[in-house]
Amino acid sequence: MAKEIIELIVNGDRYEVAVEPWRTLAEVLREDLNLTGTKIGCNQGDCGACTVLMEGRSVSSCLTLAAEAHQREIVTIEGLAQGPEDLHPLQEAFVEHGAVQCGYCTPGMILSAKHLLDHNPTPSEQEIRQGLSGNLCRCTGYSKIVEAIGAAAAKMAPAGEGE
Ligand code: FES
Ligand code: FES
Repeated sequence: MAKEIIELIVNGDRYEVAVEPWRTLAEVLREDLNLTGTKIGCNQGDCGACTVLMEGRSVSSCLTLAAEAHQREIVTIEGLAQGPEDLHPLQEAFVEHGAVQCGYCTPGMILSAKHLLDHNPTPSEQEIRQGLSGNLCRCTGYSKIVEAIGAAAAKMAPAGEGE
């Protein structure tokens, strides 16, 4: 089947790629753009490892066709840090709170957490757990992840919020 040229805006950079209509956004990010921070776990929408932000919404990139992302703004884990020494507060908090073990779930967890904090800067523990309900972790037991997101929220929240 003929390839289609699509334009993706990923972490602020524009890419033109020729893709078959059935290829997923997760595959194109990893294989064509070499953005391998986005992980593929179940490849069927159950684990959240492939979570990215598309137009500010968190989506499973394994269930999103690359063609559906044409001319959309995508944020992947590579887009969060300003530089190797300048991690996003969520990334710092995951490291500081021991929320990363094998790390396979981490990019998806962090993007789900970013989506949550973008919409609710001072979430309760229950709201954090709800925000992560689509992301599975086989290593950490979740408590450290919830703790890390709470700490990042406290650090990022405008003064006076969440008190
Ligand atoms: S790889 Fe996409 S949800 Fe599991
Ligand atoms: S840290 Fe290993 S799956 Fe979450």
